[in-house]
Amino acid sequence: MRTRPLKVALLGCGVVGSEVARIMTTHAADLAARIGAPIELAGVAVRRPSKVREGIPAELVTTDATALVKRGDIDVVVEVIGGIEPARSLITTAFEHGASVVSANKALLAQDGAALHAAAGEHGRDLYYEAAVAGAIPLIRPLRESLAGDKVNRVLGIVNGTTNFILDKMDTTGAGYQEALDEATALGYAEADPTADVEGFDAAAKAAILAGIAFHTRVRLDDVYREGMTEVTAADFASAKNMGCTIKLLAICERAADGASVTARVHPAMIPLTHPLASVRGAYNAVFVESDAAGQLMFYGPGAGGAPTASAVLGDLVAVCRNRLNGATGPGESAYAALTVSPMGDVVTRYHISLDVADKPGVLAQVATVFAEHGVSIDTVRQKGKDGEASLVVVTHRASDASLSGTVEALRKLDTVRGVASIMRVEGE
Ligand code: HSE
Repeated sequence: MRTRPLKVALLGCGVVGSEVARIMTTHAADLAARIGAPIELAGVAVRRPSKVREGIPAELVTTDATALVKRGDIDVVVEVIGGIEPARSLITTAFEHGASVVSANKALLAQDGAALHAAAGEHGRDLYYEAAVAGAIPLIRPLRESLAGDKVNRVLGIVNGTTNFILDKMDTTGAGYQEALDEATALGYAEADPTADVEGFDAAAKAAILAGIAFHTRVRLDDVYREGMTEVTAADFASAKNMGCTIKLLAICERAADGASVTARVHPAMIPLTHPLASVRGAYNAVFVESDAAGQLMFYGPGAGGAPTASAVLGDLVAVCRNRLNGATGPGESAYAALTVSPMGDVVTRYHISLDVADKPGVLAQVATVFAEHGVSIDTVRQKGKDGEASLVVVTHRASDASLSGTVEALRKLDTVRGVASIMRVEGE
């Protein structure tokens, strides 16, 4: 085994970074044996140097992250600060100065993955980011490497723990959104500003990364259709139960039936209780992958948290260190397929629509006509009337999102339709 250590610079020492440093120290002998050389923490860039960080020698701590990545003797930079800048500049500078990079930065990878991969390739270095999607769950490596010989057709995932916790609470207790969010905040699952989670931004970034890798096509955050879950109500859960379903915030990356285009989207959806994703409870994440040869695969585990995310970072660190010792690099960006990324209107799925309507002769026929005029075929209709008003629940066969939007727009114009109470896509059937 080589005795000269590989040098690691850690950018960020928060919840994840401190766990990375701890595991590097406590598992040092095992990591050295697995890599074939010891690894040494050579510097830790932080914002608040005065904070006491157990197990990290004070002389390693610096506030000058740029100087750290420019040192020239750093083999691997581990970036766990998040956000676009300064992370992007630091990573680029790290490549320019000969380091490989392990990052947990989903927002940056979703926005600038192509440019970062190009920079890594230009300098013959690695860019690994298993921790950017679904915390500890091995997903990037299985998609990039284990399934490299297969053809992935669909990735359907619960990739945000905060929202899964909230939806699970609503499902199991009948609580409304705000009540469940308050509990998630009190228990530390939701951040003080939960926007990134509940509005689906976090999941959309992960969807972009997953779709890009799964379909060998560049998919950016802007390509991902996004709807948050703040409008999901207890009534939606009651409707879902009536259909033998629950509601999850799903990231869905799909190859179109003709194989020539793909879509990526994040939105709440009903899924049958029999689908494996329906049993993913609390803050857990899970990703269901469908491919030609392997069939259906499911990856499950903790999608956030210091130690779980550090586990994914450490796995990448070992891989990148091994590559360096071998004078090699691992897989870079694979975007050769360059498939068209289609807009949401092209997505084909089923819909559950709740309408408040007048309860009088001809209304059902009028509503059905609107669906027919837009080419949307009805699967089931349920009506419950009271005092001249009725609630009408329509479940459709598969139709394009554009056709469904046109249908809803036309329904809203009918005098007899008092309101569209909810529209929910039905997935996983
Ligand atoms: N906020 C994310 C979640 C974890 O709730 O799953 C980090 O991506």
